[in-house]
Amino acid sequence: MENQKQEEEEQIVTPWEVTAEKGGKIDYDKLIDKFGCQRLDQSLVDRVARLTARPPHVFLRRGVFFAHRDFNDVLDAYERGEKFYLYTGRGPSSEALHLGHLVPFMFTKYLQDAFKVPLVIQLTDDEKCMWKNLTVEESQRLARENAKDIIACGFDVSRTFIFSDFDYVGGSFYKNMVKIAKCVTYNKVVGIFGFSGEDHIGKVSFPPVQAAPSFPSSFPHLFSGKDSLRCLIPCAIDQDPYFRMTRDVAPRIGYHKPALIESSFFPALQGETGKMSASDPNSAIYVTDSAKDIKNKVNRYAFSGGQDSIENHRKYGANLEVDIPIKYLGFFLEDDAELEHIRTEYGAGRMLTGEVKKRLIEVLTELVERHRRARAAVTDEMVDAFMAVRPLPNMFS
Ligand code: TYM
Ligand code: TRP
Repeated sequence: MENQKQEEEEQIVTPWEVTAEKGGKIDYDKLIDKFGCQRLDQSLVDRVARLTARPPHVFLRRGVFFAHRDFNDVLDAYERGEKFYLYTGRGPSSEALHLGHLVPFMFTKYLQDAFKVPLVIQLTDDEKCMWKNLTVEESQRLARENAKDIIACGFDVSRTFIFSDFDYVGGSFYKNMVKIAKCVTYNKVVGIFGFSGEDHIGKVSFPPVQAAPSFPSSFPHLFSGKDSLRCLIPCAIDQDPYFRMTRDVAPRIGYHKPALIESSFFPALQGETGKMSASDPNSAIYVTDSAKDIKNKVNRYAFSGGQDSIENHRKYGANLEVDIPIKYLGFFLEDDAELEHIRTEYGAGRMLTGEVKKRLIEVLTELVERHRRARAAVTDEMVDAFMAVRPLPNMFS
């Protein structure tokens, strides 16, 4: 899109594109400044641990979720005994999820368990139909397939409503979409999303669809009479533009602004210049990859911060700042002591890239294997159960 082209040298983070400044990595501090979100600091992590009486999730402990908007307000209300609901989503553009997609879903499951709150998951099959040139039927099929991967993350059916836009949008949800749309000018949406005159009007009119689930009245079967219920949205920071728009509109139509808790990107195998993306198969490890695929991809593509010869490696050690295996272990190796040991040994050159990659392959293979077993156990009846428009009587207990 136009204004993105002009900024080619700068880092770009939009819902459609994530690239670092030329030759560098994504600068998350800059992003916080530019978007105007708040940094998620240690005191907030400690507060979550205290309020939930359980250790904070690895993704919180290690700063994978690094930014927020009004998360402290949600916690204040929670401390007063007011609950909230969680909202997240997925644009079903590919058959299978990749490891990056698991990040917000694994984290959302932790939040659901820790705070005992309801969750709505939006599958934007309409969005992908418009952006990815998929047919309506194919987008709907992918949404159902993706729902299985999402359910496999372990969500509690008594507290979770999954919906596809094509099936669910209407009624109260649609009324909110129209109220939102009336508050956003064309200039505003171009400013936020960078649409151009050549983009079809489906794209221009989509943002209210992603905004509407932020308001409890979009779900009368769940939250009837609870218009002041707060909403917390876990997502990666690429989705922030949608919710900047939503937060701008919220008070004008009589709702709380949704709060956000935002993650950095699980990087591409090639390095932290971009996010793991479904559009580039060599950048991604999918939850459907075999043990052999994982081994090949890690060994062949994972960018290494190790030195070019063993002598130099022993002498200078690995550059952990750019090393992808270390970065991935930071997401998925839960044992803090082992991670620290690997960082020290590898950084000092006593451990070689091959050994670190070998450990990473074990960790990822186990994760993907566990996911595969969980997904295989998800039946069509279970998908129907999660997607049924129904009350959830015990969702807050
Ligand atoms: P989608 O399908 O592109 O991505 C789904 C979720 O995964 C996050 N994500 C990542 N997180 C970490 N590392 C990565 N490499 C990575 N790639 C993707 C995304 O930020 C998102 O949280 N329009 C949305 C669907 C949506 C949604 C929402 C997402 C609708 N409502 C509310 C979050 C919250 C989409 O296409 O996401
Ligand atoms: N990043 C997604 C991809 O390339 C596309 C995407 C994510 C998207 N969020 C979006 C497209 C929101 C439109 C609107 O697969």
